[in-house]
Amino acid sequence: MSKTKKKPKDPASMRVLFVTPECYPLVKTGGLADVSAALPPALNRAGAEVRLLLPGYPAVLNGLTDLQPVGNPLTDLPGGAPATLRIGRMPDGVLAYVLDAPALYDRPGNPYLGPDGKDWPDNAERFAALSWCAAGFAAEDGLDPWWRPEVLHGHDWQTGLIPAYLELRPDRFAGPFRPGTVTTIHNIAYQGLFGAWMMSDLGLPSAAFRIDGVEYYGGVGFLKAGCFYSDRLTTVSPTYAHEIQTAEHGSGLEGLLATRAEALTGILNGVDYDIWDPAIDPHIAARYGAADLGGKDLCKADLQATFGLDRRADAPLAAVVSRLTGHKGLDLVLEAASQWIAWGGQLAVLGSGEPALEAGFRHLATWFPKSVGVRIGYDEALSHRIQAGADLFLVPSRSEPCGLTQMYALKYGTLPLVRRTGGLADTIVDANPAAVNDGSATGFQFVNANVQELTWALRRAAALYRKPERWHVLQQHAMTRDFGWHGPAEEYMELYRAVAPVLVG
Ligand code: ADP
Ligand code: GLC
Repeated sequence: MSKTKKKPKDPASMRVLFVTPECYPLVKTGGLADVSAALPPALNRAGAEVRLLLPGYPAVLNGLTDLQPVGNPLTDLPGGAPATLRIGRMPDGVLAYVLDAPALYDRPGNPYLGPDGKDWPDNAERFAALSWCAAGFAAEDGLDPWWRPEVLHGHDWQTGLIPAYLELRPDRFAGPFRPGTVTTIHNIAYQGLFGAWMMSDLGLPSAAFRIDGVEYYGGVGFLKAGCFYSDRLTTVSPTYAHEIQTAEHGSGLEGLLATRAEALTGILNGVDYDIWDPAIDPHIAARYGAADLGGKDLCKADLQATFGLDRRADAPLAAVVSRLTGHKGLDLVLEAASQWIAWGGQLAVLGSGEPALEAGFRHLATWFPKSVGVRIGYDEALSHRIQAGADLFLVPSRSEPCGLTQMYALKYGTLPLVRRTGGLADTIVDANPAAVNDGSATGFQFVNANVQELTWALRRAAALYRKPERWHVLQQHAMTRDFGWHGPAEEYMELYRAVAPVLVG
């Protein structure tokens, strides 16, 4: 398909379909939901016209207002599920299309996992359908005859087939112009790999089952397809953009990504300060800001009470809010915890995930009830209270594409202690003597994922905590860093301009 070359378009009118499998506050399993909620309005402020496309989970259909059907029912989705496209408004007013296909999405709970904790067996069809629907906006009989996107921007493996469909199925998706395509990799460890036998069910021509196509380790790779066919690729921090071109972090896609290095950009995520700011946060015990940290003491006392910890203002309180999975490195926290406690430290943990890690933290709280508090589960309000009440925020990830919680922690004057990888390396300045002296330090880093290095970083943090005036300088600096979405939104706009077709007026 060739792009229509006509008069230069007005960049301010950039129409972008933002296709995502999750979006706060309607459906969230991790940072992608926060990004999907905050980036579209930031892009709209930067002059784009962004609309979301979401799967029709019950929480999405119930959470959107003014829902109305768009066009005719969809009858040719991969897998054959009947569906209706609807449009409504997100709670913040952003327009969102929903693929209402009850056979695919009318299921409670986690968007990807069934009640047995395993992937839904039809996840290939569920997210191929989402991608097919997105591609349908480009077709001659575009799904919304009144709105044709110039860019299709997909997120993670769930949307990887969008550019593949545009490229491989011109019979179905060729339209008056071909939109530019962007795929953002939020975590390369999740790839959407399915059986080769699904090719025709997914509406993919068998000729595309090759290394220069959708084939990946003998199956169909959704993220691989996105990486291969998208005009441009992005990931969520500059350091991760380099890391995923290496065998250590590329999860098998490093070779392909290295060949596409020219098309790959790392754009750091931002923070939505309307939600994550202790000066206005409705969830926390007392509001505070960089100019007056008094309220933070109350937040700490509240957190200690909530977790049944000793009410000691002078005990350094470290916290974790995280999915409990291997790549988050929290097994290292379990190993280092008794030393931290021996130094007088406390620990508050909120998370859920792998049973072994859940059990490990539960046991720790049983052994040290006055020093360690653990909540297994997902609790948005409590995550804010932890950000506000803790002194130190632990993110010891083995890999971390960007990470949002360490940036939230900065704003709350809760100094992040992170492993130097991905976005953690790009956002936190280690409190080495030089950085402490020149005032640039905002937290603590360690390099290698082992308990000795984590323990050493904890020790440095505990020592600095005992010097309140120095600690306070770091807090001030951390709280005044600006990781808002304005800058990243401008970078995405530039990318959109590079891929959008030049259209006739
Ligand atoms: P990831 O997307 O890899 O999980 P991020 O740091 O990008 O990591 O984003 C995690 C998001 O999920 C943050 O908004 C964090 O506060 C939230 N979160 C993680 N676990 C929990 C939990 N158990 N309860 C509440 N919020 C959580
Ligand atoms: C993924 C990554 C995380 C990132 C988030 C949002 O879940 O694991 O590092 O912050 O996506 O981009």
